[in-house]
Amino acid sequence: MKPRCIQPGNGTRMQYCLAMLALIWYVFKTTIPSNGFGNRFASMIIAGNWKMNLTRQEAVALTTAVIPAASDNLGIILFPPSILIDTVRDHLASGNGNGGEGIALGGQDSHAAASGPHTGDIAAPMLREAGCTWVLLGHSERRADHGETSAMVAAKAVQAIAHDLAPMICVGESLDDRQSGRAGDVVEHQLRDSLTGVEPGACFAIAYEPIWAIGTGKTAGSDDIAQMHGHIRSVLTSINADHAGVPILYGGSVKPGNAGDIFDQQHVDGALVGGASLDADQFLSIIRSARSRA
Ligand code: 13P
Repeated sequence: MKPRCIQPGNGTRMQYCLAMLALIWYVFKTTIPSNGFGNRFASMIIAGNWKMNLTRQEAVALTTAVIPAASDNLGIILFPPSILIDTVRDHLASGNGNGGEGIALGGQDSHAAASGPHTGDIAAPMLREAGCTWVLLGHSERRADHGETSAMVAAKAVQAIAHDLAPMICVGESLDDRQSGRAGDVVEHQLRDSLTGVEPGACFAIAYEPIWAIGTGKTAGSDDIAQMHGHIRSVLTSINADHAGVPILYGGSVKPGNAGDIFDQQHVDGALVGGASLDADQFLSIIRSARSRA
């Protein structure tokens, strides 16, 4: 006798489909970290690191000016000082018009612990709760001002990823390193040590910022940028083939006048902009340059 084939009736089939959809959505939400761009990397990312600048009023004016630049084919990230994150988030929510998919928000640092006795620090879950999807880690100013080592950056990155924040990990050589021909080795060590414990498939980005180009008006030459970004791509791939497509941004005196040339270099997936991100006209001009190449 043939076994009885149990065919779900219409109502049961509908419930079955809804349950499957809910399951797929749950798995998607819990296994793929978000980056504020609908869980995919935009083809170009322009990030503004406001550092320790701007009053609340200035932050509101700058955010208002940047909102119309949001678009599907470009990722924009704002990294305000932590005390301004709520204000910027509320402005983005009220005026973005595309559900916040085009402009993401990030913190400038987060601690390696999820909570605890660390006066003055900020934890990854706090940033996430405030609406951030990104966090800058290992910026050379933090490495210099706070003695951050790459091992500390790695611990912070693991904690950030555990709380659904995409770290943008900064690396870059000093002038001394470059002049003595050690730039490639220094950056490779920073990369390997800062990514210890970061699992394949994690959502993160790298910002290459030569220290001597930050805030100095000096930019690395196009060939040097192309060479270093190619080097970073091959180091990432050798750490894990899964890291091969990680976005690599350039930072260090990016301005409207040099942005196009920088974006034309191979393996440059965008820019981490400091000073020029504080000026709406300059930041928007850099965004336009990127968009024309996205
Ligand atoms: P500047 O663009 O002011 O050189 O700063 C670069 C930077 O440090 C971004 O994180």
